[in-house]
Parts: sequence; C-alpha cells; structure tokens
Amino acid sequence: MLTVGIDIGTSAVKIILVDNGGRVLRTVSLDYPLYMYDDGRSEQAPEDWWQQTADGLREITAGVEVAAVSFSGQMHGLVLLDENDNVLRRAILWNDQRTIKQCDFLNNEVGREVLLENAANIALTGFTLPKILWVKANEPEIFKKVKKIMLPKDYIAYKLSSVFATDYSDASGMLMLDVKKQEWSQKILEIAGITQEQLPRLFHSYEAVGTVSPTAAAETGLSCDTKVVIGGGDQAVGAVGSGIVSAGMCSVSLGTSGVLFVASDNFAVDTSPAAIHSFCHATGRYHFMGVTLAAAGSHKWWTEEILAATDYSAEQENIDKIGKNPVYYLPYLSGERTPHNNPYARGAFVGMNMTTTRADMSQAVLEGVAFSLRDILTRVNALGASVTTARIIGGGAKSALWCQIIADILRLRVEKMQSDEGPAFGAAILAMVGAGAYRNVEEACAELIKITQTFTPNEENADEYDKRYPVYVGLYAALRGSFDEMAGI
Ligand code: XUL
Repeated sequence: MLTVGIDIGTSAVKIILVDNGGRVLRTVSLDYPLYMYDDGRSEQAPEDWWQQTADGLREITAGVEVAAVSFSGQMHGLVLLDENDNVLRRAILWNDQRTIKQCDFLNNEVGREVLLENAANIALTGFTLPKILWVKANEPEIFKKVKKIMLPKDYIAYKLSSVFATDYSDASGMLMLDVKKQEWSQKILEIAGITQEQLPRLFHSYEAVGTVSPTAAAETGLSCDTKVVIGGGDQAVGAVGSGIVSAGMCSVSLGTSGVLFVASDNFAVDTSPAAIHSFCHATGRYHFMGVTLAAAGSHKWWTEEILAATDYSAEQENIDKIGKNPVYYLPYLSGERTPHNNPYARGAFVGMNMTTTRADMSQAVLEGVAFSLRDILTRVNALGASVTTARIIGGGAKSALWCQIIADILRLRVEKMQSDEGPAFGAAILAMVGAGAYRNVEEACAELIKITQTFTPNEENADEYDKRYPVYVGLYAALRGSFDEMAGI
C-alpha cells in the first residue's frame, strides 16, 4: 500500500510518497510566496498552496496508485471563503502580529478565566480567533461575506475532497475549540460573532473524511478511490512522525525556536502565567507544548554573529566544564514565550571572571537553552505529565554534546531517530492509519519509527545541573525589572 504525506509549510509544500513499511520512495518540495510586512503582517495566498500541491501531487503519483493522502499544516492561519467558495482575502498566518489589540481585548476584557474554561488556552497573536476579530473590525465588508472559516491544510483537504472538515489538533489552535470536550465552544463563537455553520466539521486526524473528487482527480493525477484523511497541525503531526504518541514521551525540537511537545492521556489547563499550550493530539488524546523563542537561534547568533565563526563543532571541541561552568546564559534574544510570556525579556551572560574562556561562553549558550527547556518541562510535569523520554529533532540535534547536555539538564533519556522527514512523515503515518494499514497511530509508530542513538543522563553532571538550575531561574527574576526599564515601561 502506498500513501502520501503533504506538509503545508510556511515556505513550501513538501510531499512524500511512502510504502507501508515506512520507506520514503519519492519527495517533492515546491515553494510559494510569503508576504511579510514591516508592521508585522504575514500572509499567503491559499490558491498558491493549492496550485503547488496539485503540481507536486501530479509529479509524485505518476504511475502509482495511492491508497490515501493526509496532511500536516502550518497552524492557526485564517482562510475565509464566500458562498461560491472563492477565497475572500489572503490567509493571515500563524506568525502575523497584527492582533495585539484583539488579544488584549480577549485576555483582559473577555478574561483569561473565560478563555481557559472554554478553550483551554489564553489568546496569543498567532491564534485564529484574534484574527477573526481583526477582520471583523477592519474589513467588515469581507467579514459579512464569510461562509466558511478554515485552516491552511483544511483548504487543501476541501479542494481535494469537497468535504468541509478539520481535526481536533489543528482546531485547538483556533482558540474556539472546547479542547476537553472536543467540540466548538458556543460561548467563544458568540464572542467571535460567528456560527457553527461557518466552521468545519470536526474529525480525528487519522479519519478519512472522503475520497478525491473527480475535479481534483483531474488536477492532481490521484484516483477517485484515494482516501482523504484529514491530518492535523504541524506540531502534532510532527510529533506523530517522531513517535511522540504515548504519555511520558516528549519531543524537543532545536530549531530557531525550541519546542517541547508532550503527549498526555489526560487533559489539563495551565492557569499559571507560563500558559503552556493545552491542545488535542493527533492520536485522539491530548498534548502540552511550550516554546522557547531562541534555541538553535541563540547558538547561531553566538557562533556566527558574535564569534564570527562558521565551524560549529570546532567551537564545541574545547568545552570542558560540563556540570561545572560558572557562566550562565539567558536565551531571551527574542523576548520569551514559555514560561515568561514576556516580549521585553532579553539575553544575558552572567558569572564571567578573568579566567572565563571562549569555550565556557559557548558552553553557557548550550546550557542556557537547555535550562529554558527545563523551565517548560517543569511546568508540563506540574500539569501531571511525568515525562521520562525525549526525542530530539531539528538542526541543533546534530551536536552530540548538546544532546548530552539536554539529557543531563532535563534528566531525561534522549533519543535520535532515523527519519528526519518530520511532519510529512507523520502525515503519511496518519494516511496509513486512515487507510486501515494499522489499527491506530500508536501501533503504526511502534512499527515505523526507528531509534538510532540514545543519550542517558550522567548522574554526576545531572546532580551538578540540579544545583545550578535555581541560579538560572533566579537570574530572570533578578533582571526582570531591568528588562522593563530597558524597554521604557
Ligand atoms: C504552532 C505554530 C507553528 C506553526 C507554523 O503553534 O505556531 O508551529 O504551525 O509551523
């Protein structure tokens, strides 16, 4: 059986053809324009996503029969269609910052308690509900014409199957889903001024919502027998692609930002200011997620901008104070999301003396990011997650030293995997489950995800890091007032 995984990313659509043993047979990646403006707006044309996806599908499926396709999608993006299914405006994306006012209204006037009770999360500029409120306030003519509201991957699923559908994981990031009950929140829809008819029907990520329509078959080369499995948001589907599907497991993504994603059997809401995201997982259960904004981004900044170096491993060769480094680094170069939710926080090095070396500073950067991930893990465990194992992905995972530091500071077993296809691979797994090749997502992952390397915590170093962690935590508390002063607030 062959399936296709489609990842609707922010820079490109990536499409992979996979057999049911998990072998990736073909890969296509086609990019599309991203419209970003100085004032923080970020948009894309849904028609571009479709054009490139249709072209990519034609290429990837030439001469083969595909049982099912499924999706991973950039989350939160607002796609609006009129009564004739025409796109009403460009999609407003996850990284768009225009909704600060709408978020203030939601968090302060509607109130965090109401949001947490009805949608399990507070408002962030990226989420979909504030974008709907923005269109309502600023483009009332468009708002009046809205017949269908959907997310990026749902638009592609709709073009393929003509079924107006979404899944619980992606819907969680709209801030309109009652995450616990897995249904749209009537209360929030009233606040948004929209009705359930304007929203897609909800499915599990691994469920087939229909088959490819004759029109879409002609455009993509897929057959009308190919099942369309709805898929999910890129974080949840990426986690499926890494096998983060059962309680006690987390993924650590060391990209520009660092994401700690935890699978959970139980629902919980973070009422603390850390505001850990509490979303539905693509498995049918739940997950928690926290984001540190400058992870590999800190490493790149330090190596390339400050040291003016390009050889990352050479910079790590002289690191020799594991567990004993007197230098601390706060990785808040872009402000911080979790746990501080503070756009005014800034980076800092503390603890140097006349004997401090270049290598100590480099080590502090790797450790500071790991401490920041520990902040997230601590909050997530406080919600009842009990994490024991992390799977590490993203560019930073290339450094074995950084993987070991993360194992020591988080006191977790850290695993690296064979496949680095991430979200597209997760989408192909969901397609396999939807097509009946596996009974459920967990079974498919147990069969298909292969571990290639494991890092276990070094007890002695982990003990030393336990002593240093409170110092790291104290530094933000001590500097917080100064960050505000620096920002003039
Ligand atoms: C998740 C998030 C990003 C986007 C784009 O909350 O904002 O992962 O989905 O990749």
